[in-house]
Order: sequence, then C-alpha cells, then structure tokens
Amino acid sequence: MRLIITEHYNDMCRKAASIMASQITLKPDSVLGLATGATPVGIYEQLTAWYQNGELDFSQITTVNLDEYYGLAPDNEQSYHYFMTEHLFSKVNLPKGRQFLPDGKNLDTDRECERYQNLIRLLGGIDMQLLGLGHNGHIGFNEPSDAFVKEVHLVKLAEQTIEANKRFFARAEDVPRKAYTMGIGTIFQAKKILLAVSGAQKAKILKQVMYGPICPQVPGTILQLHSDVTVVADREAAEEIEAEI
Ligand code: GLP
Repeated sequence: MRLIITEHYNDMCRKAASIMASQITLKPDSVLGLATGATPVGIYEQLTAWYQNGELDFSQITTVNLDEYYGLAPDNEQSYHYFMTEHLFSKVNLPKGRQFLPDGKNLDTDRECERYQNLIRLLGGIDMQLLGLGHNGHIGFNEPSDAFVKEVHLVKLAEQTIEANKRFFARAEDVPRKAYTMGIGTIFQAKKILLAVSGAQKAKILKQVMYGPICPQVPGTILQLHSDVTVVADREAAEEIEAEI
C-alpha cells in the first residue's frame, strides 16, 4: 500500500482527484468505481473544476458506485444516486446511460445482486475504485462480520454505521437499515484502488486497516492484500501512523 499524507482535507482531495484525473487522461474510456459519504465531496468538486476549465473529459467514462440504500429511489434526496447526481453526474459530461448504481428500489434482492455483479463483469471490471473508510473499518457497506462476502450483496447496517450516517438524515429513524453493496471480491477486481481518508476520528481505524491483522472484523484490512492500493490521507487521519514513523 502506498501512503500519501497531505496537510489538510483540501490537499487530500486535490491529490486524490489528481490520481483519478491521471487515470481519466491515460485511459479516457475507464470504468471508475465511485464512493459516497462526506470524504469524496471535495474530490468530486475538484474533478468538476478541472472538467469546467477544459482539462478533463468524461465523455467516454463509465461509473459504477459501491453501494446504495435498500428501498430508496434515485430521486430520494438521501439516496446515493441523488448524492452522485448532485456532486458529480449533473456537473460533468458523463453520459447518462453510463452511470451505474445498485437499484435501491429493486426489492428482489437476489435478482438485484446478480444484476449488479453481472453488470460490473460485463463492463470488464473496474479500472480504478475510489473508496472512503467507515468509522468501523467498513469499505463500501461491507460491515465487520465473521467472513468476507465476495460478491454484491444486501447487508444489514451496523449500529455504528447508522449512528455515523444519521448526520445526513433528518432523524436517526430515517436511516435505512439495509443496503446493497459491492462485495470484497467485487472491489478486489478493481485494477487500482484509491482510499481517501480524512480527519482525526479515522486515525485509529486507518492505522488498523493499513497495518493491523487482516480480518473480516475490520473489512478494510483486506486491502493489504491488493497489489495496487494508494491511500491518500490528511495529516489528522494519518496521525497515529505518523506517530510511529
Ligand atoms: C458510508 C459509505 C462508505 C463511506 C463511509 C464513510 O457508510 N457507504 O462508502 O466510505 O460512509 O463516510 P464518510 O466519508 O462520510 O466518513
């Protein structure tokens, strides 16, 4: 795993965005795996700015998102679909038919998981997967568990995740209790992985993810086994690691 430490959140976003921009420039028809949450917001802002000043072209790009809340339609303001439209899809020239997320409104779980897994396979896999890090070490919505789940699946969200994500909802009761997510194997098929982490509240878990024992109880630890992972962290997120260097 490569670790790039930046001073603040904004620098972290610019660095992560520049890695994604290189991917887009070198392979204009890349399949990009995208993430939601507060962390990537600044990354999408930077990519948008580079698109607007003519430095980036998304016209041949395809995107697949990591996850979506079960039961939420794309026009629901809390859905990840809506988030992506607001922060990226509506701002760059990414073709409408090439922006993919799990369909939260498809309540036929087996069918939806199979559809999304097959879709990623048919696209030829992911060239670069952007990841954030959950407070409990989750990636996508792969929650701590006794085993790594390989493919796209429906997951019951951990209490800690509901607690962490309630900031985006009017009331904690509104946070969906389930979500569709790419599995660990789906994420691992990505040729390159870019993990973006910000803030002191992620410092302990980031250290564990990068150097702790590989176990499904801290799902992000599996990234240690991938051959091309770049971690971009701001100083606060990297403080536990830096303390030992
Ligand atoms: C959600 C998403 C994850 C994301 C995590 C961290 O649970 N499913 O993909 O990485 O939140 O979000 P934040 O960046 O807001 O801390």
